[in-house]
Amino acid sequence: MTVLVSGATGRAGWHVARFLQERGHQVRAAVPDAGATGPWDEAVTFSFTDPATWDAAFTGVDRMFLMRPPQIGNVKRDMLPALERARQLGVRRMVLLSLQGAEHNPVVPHHDLEKWLRRSGLEWTFVRAAFFMQNLSTTHAADIREHGRILLPAGRGRTAFVDVRDVAEVAALALDGDGHVGQAYTPTGSRPLTYAEVADLIAAELGRPVRYVSAGPLRYLRSARAEGMAWGMALVTLALYTTCRLGLADRITDDVRALLGRPPIDFAQFAHDERGAWSPATARKPAATG
Ligand SMILES: NC(=O)c1ccc[n+]([C@@H]2O[C@H](COP(=O)([O-])OP(=O)(O)OC[C@H]3O[C@@H](n4cnc5c(N)ncnc54)[C@H](OP(=O)(O)O)[C@@H]3O)[C@@H](O)[C@H]2O)c1
Repeated sequence: MTVLVSGATGRAGWHVARFLQERGHQVRAAVPDAGATGPWDEAVTFSFTDPATWDAAFTGVDRMFLMRPPQIGNVKRDMLPALERARQLGVRRMVLLSLQGAEHNPVVPHHDLEKWLRRSGLEWTFVRAAFFMQNLSTTHAADIREHGRILLPAGRGRTAFVDVRDVAEVAALALDGDGHVGQAYTPTGSRPLTYAEVADLIAAELGRPVRYVSAGPLRYLRSARAEGMAWGMALVTLALYTTCRLGLADRITDDVRALLGRPPIDFAQFAHDERGAWSPATARKPAATG
């Protein structure tokens, strides 16, 4: 059975593809550039916004990992037509990478995707992930590497950070197994952390100082723009970090342990595994948060 993984070159999709392969599935990566290599059996050129790429991606596929690219804000216009085509071509199950709290928040694009899936007649599972730890080793890596700081408008709020590998393993389980249809899971880590604590944990791993700078909205926007973030993305991330500042991003669940039979990956372990992202010689492509 072929499983389609959208966003397979992204932070979550790459690991979803890896876990599916480990579970013996034939994995087709649906990516903007079919030349991309990774843990999959085949890759096809795919864009949610390019109808010419849809049929080759969806034909012969039974299940799909569905991810909204951060660049897409209007999912009704830019994603649902592709998903309708997937349904016509026989895709039967979709596991959606959603966002913690998306069910209560009509402003986030994942809300519309969840609504569409509920009405679609397809088998669905929602994986409503907390903030990824990997935001620190991608989006914020350059600031940590070059300035020894994390500058964000998150105040002293705590965040229920989750390692994206746990999110991906939960998604792969929902694609593979049969007891997950119609379920919504919220993978989080095991302890909510402030960004000051996050800075301390990264500093302990690196053996050099990293400090958290609690910025106001304007300072954050100026800094994000100076680092090349698009206006739309800067505003979306400002909203996300504001939810954290207000104490709305700190809810811990037991879903990772209940589903995977082990505790979530801890932040210190994540920092150890990803320390290369903050070492001076490394210059990775920054990824979007949101
Ligand atoms: N970051 C967080 O803390 C967090 C937490 C919970 C939920 N989420 C949600 O997770 C999703 C992002 O996942 P991620 O972090 O894995 O993303 P990511 O690392 O930014 O990767 C995005 C992927 O989408 C692909 N892509 C870009 N434009 C596309 C298009 N038009 N059609 C098809 N694919 C396209 C990219 O391909 P190329 O790179 O090859 O161009 C890449 O594979 C978002 O919906 C976000 O809201 C994020």
